[in-house]
Amino acid sequence: MTIPDRRDELIFNLTSPGRRGYSLPARDVPETPLEGALPEGLARESVEGFPELTEVGLVRHFTRLSTWNYGVDTGMYPLGSCTMKYNPKLNEAAARMAGFAALHPLTPDQASQGALGVMYALAQMLAEITGLPAVTLQPAAGAHGELTGMMMIRKHLITRDGNPRKVVLIPDSAHGTNPASAHFCGYQVREIKSSPRGTLSVSALAEAMTDEVAALMLTNPNTLGIFEEEICEVARIVHAKGGLVYCDGANMNALVGRARPGDFGMDIMHLNLHKTFSTPHGGGGPGSGPVVAIKELEPYLPTPVIVATPEGLRRDYERPLSVGRVKAFQGNFGMVLRAYAYIRTLGPDGIKATADNAVLNANYLRVKLRDEYDVPYDRLNMHEVIFSDHRQNAHGVTTLDIAKRLIDYGFHPPTVYFPLIVHGALMVEPTETEGLEELDRFVEVMKRIAEEARTEPDLLKKAPLTTRRSRFDEAAAARKPVLRWKKE
Ligand SMILES: Cc1ncc(COP(=O)(O)O)c(C=O)c1O
Repeated sequence: MTIPDRRDELIFNLTSPGRRGYSLPARDVPETPLEGALPEGLARESVEGFPELTEVGLVRHFTRLSTWNYGVDTGMYPLGSCTMKYNPKLNEAAARMAGFAALHPLTPDQASQGALGVMYALAQMLAEITGLPAVTLQPAAGAHGELTGMMMIRKHLITRDGNPRKVVLIPDSAHGTNPASAHFCGYQVREIKSSPRGTLSVSALAEAMTDEVAALMLTNPNTLGIFEEEICEVARIVHAKGGLVYCDGANMNALVGRARPGDFGMDIMHLNLHKTFSTPHGGGGPGSGPVVAIKELEPYLPTPVIVATPEGLRRDYERPLSVGRVKAFQGNFGMVLRAYAYIRTLGPDGIKATADNAVLNANYLRVKLRDEYDVPYDRLNMHEVIFSDHRQNAHGVTTLDIAKRLIDYGFHPPTVYFPLIVHGALMVEPTETEGLEELDRFVEVMKRIAEEARTEPDLLKKAPLTTRRSRFDEAAAARKPVLRWKKE
């Protein structure tokens, strides 16, 4: 007799009529007729084919599904540019404190001084870390911060010159959200080529920088993981023509405590609390993309702005030049609490150490793996390093195959095929929270995959071989996702 393996079985196959996962006491109030309670056509008494299960069956189903996932609590997650680092549990405890978690966002200022105090303090810390004093915590993600920042730049130019200008310059290595945000704000995007060293070409910038240009949007360190070392000259060129420099601060974990964008001429930037300051993201939780800016841009911050008065902290809505509200209430306050707890736990020396370790770890991987994988920009990098599949291509193996094979060895794949200027890019960001043993394990696995590419390329084509599901039609999964169960 074959024994069925039920581990793969989905909840819908475990149904049995009449099974229940709850038991309620007998009703002791009159039954309310459903009729009329909801608009016609919206009420239903049963769902065809809906699974009927015991509590044990239900719990096992969801718990089993959770074990099919990979997460930062399971292992290294070297997803370049996304900074998927460990989220300390202490931060979770801070975010769950009843005084914060149960506070209604419409509680008047006098009765929510504690929550306002945390927001005010975090804003001050971010100002100190970046050297940019005007802060909003409202945006819900990095891309949302970009949009907010570009709206502020536009409003500022209109106020200053009566003309928002037409163009935003963006390097060819930029994250796709940068041109999208600029375009959304009504700007034409003009691309600037990177130099052979992987940084913005200063001569190309000087040529493109006219008085039609509202801003340069620049990521620093850039998406090749390289610090834009001519950044002061870059800022000078943009400012000389009356433009502003928007810094995409997604990679700030390479700089925290070591360099302040305000000091190297950046006018406005967003920070991803869910990257640099360890708050959860991806499937783990909502994001937070505060914007920090020079004093001159303060009038344009979204309302309300939390201000200190002799009577205490209050939310200030009376800001006539503000771009308006960009998110309900105060943004994702739970993330503010976590980031605050993170910064306070580490303190100034700890914060510096995060940047040091992020950079050290990424350089360690570059040097350890460069004999096996092409490193298109083989120079001192910051928090992430780009490899390519150039050598493996000779055996018919691609970046996708390498990424999929990593899953078999227990690693989440790195970011692939980005930045676009590197053919077959593998963008590896180990982050500061990985220790030497895990980095060495990653190196060994990558070396073994390089060996497999030479000796058993077909194996890599079939990877992953150890997961419940193997290769998906990724285009269909992205474009036609099945998000709801329907009876066949
Ligand atoms: C360089 C860069 N800019 C912007 C973003 C957008 O940030 P978010 O995902 O928080 O919207 C990302 C995200 O990966 C990024 O890596």
